[in-house]
Amino acid sequence: MSALATRIEALPGKAGQTVTLHGWLYNRRSSGKIEFLQVRDGSGVVQCVAVKSELPEEVFGRCASVAQECSIRVTGLVREDKRAPSGVEVTLTDIEIVAPSVDYPITPKDHGTPFLLDHRHLWIRSQRQHALLKIRHTLVNACRDFLNQDGFTLADAPIFTPSACEGTTTLFETDYFGEKAYLTQSGQLYNEATAMAFGKTYCFGPTFRAEKSKTRRHLIEFWMVEPEVAFATLDDVMDLIERFVESIVGRVLEERRRELQILERDVASLERVKRPFPRISYDDAAKILTDKGLPFERGSDFGGTDETVLTEGFDRPFFVHRFPTAVKAFYMKRDPGDEQLSLSCDLLAPEGYGEIVGGGEREDRLDLLVERIREHKLPLEAFEWYLDLRRYGSVPHSGFGMGIERALTWIAGIEHVRETIPFPRLLHRLKP
Ligand code: 4AD
Ligand code: MG
Repeated sequence: MSALATRIEALPGKAGQTVTLHGWLYNRRSSGKIEFLQVRDGSGVVQCVAVKSELPEEVFGRCASVAQECSIRVTGLVREDKRAPSGVEVTLTDIEIVAPSVDYPITPKDHGTPFLLDHRHLWIRSQRQHALLKIRHTLVNACRDFLNQDGFTLADAPIFTPSACEGTTTLFETDYFGEKAYLTQSGQLYNEATAMAFGKTYCFGPTFRAEKSKTRRHLIEFWMVEPEVAFATLDDVMDLIERFVESIVGRVLEERRRELQILERDVASLERVKRPFPRISYDDAAKILTDKGLPFERGSDFGGTDETVLTEGFDRPFFVHRFPTAVKAFYMKRDPGDEQLSLSCDLLAPEGYGEIVGGGEREDRLDLLVERIREHKLPLEAFEWYLDLRRYGSVPHSGFGMGIERALTWIAGIEHVRETIPFPRLLHRLKP
């Protein structure tokens, strides 16, 4: 961008100045004698007004012919306008067409979601999608800032891995120069190693689940932030999750009010996201479901509907802890009070959203961990390095993972996780 251009977000406060904007035509309205050009530049949208009687004929002619998503350079005088969302308008004095845009496929009329997903590379230019991805940007920064300020060290985990972390049924297999490798489901096992080196660590990257689920909660590729803490117990990690979630929601409320408004998000419910979060056991949760008459079998994992029903009783995020060992991953430590239960926790978001965080305390004893790996029919050799962490100075430790897209779906108050990532990978959708 040339140094001469002004960003639209910087226009308030520039009333009385002549500016040049570099952007695209978002929308145009015409009254014959006046053209109203909505111009966007990535930082915002502003109305530029072109008055026929005040402009050279060829300048007004260009204004009247510029098409949706044409790239343009617009010069004009900034004027205060109380009715405009940004508080300013631009009286256009010149317009240059940089490149045309013929028959832009996404028009202001209603399109179906499959069509919009096919045109995702263009859909991200529209206001709602733009707002969502701006909130995502802030949410990611908020996660990093919270952990960095809390003494965590970033230590990213590999994407190609030799073994499963979250069960073998959702592994993506690849050919690694003749050897089998899998795309990571979670960086946790590596986090456990880095936590033993740094005390408090996190990884933050893409994770993959070959899950044949076509629900509003599932992506095939999603981003997860995963902190891990040496010497932390289940209770410690629930305390950490609580502080973390309160902090990141607070940050979005501080920095992204305008975007939340574009999405028509009820912010009152986000303002209630204050500690302490309620903590109920799996058994309590199971009782709530059976009392409500749901066909829930005690001992099984919650389905999407179960989670949605559970959230009805809470006005803020809440924990469900101590899930049955049978429904959780091999590394979960068992509850010393009841061997059938694990020292695990999920954080469920209210308003029907359900699980956004999964975590817990890890099995730190060598013999028991070997037993679990065998029970889960995982190849022991692939876990030898992981077992070393129990051979050389093992300590109690705990951590969690939060899926950015699940968290954002809730914070933004939207229906489906697919709009919370620039280019979603869904079951049977690999394009664009
Ligand atoms: O509950 P999960 O499977 O837990 C783990 O992977 C742990 N190893 C994390 C840890 O303790 N370090 O996944 C954690 C979170 C879920 O709560 C959810 O937010 C998200 O990852 N997630 C998904 N998001 C979108 N699409 C999917 N298919 C997801 N699967 C999990
Ligand atoms: Mg989970």
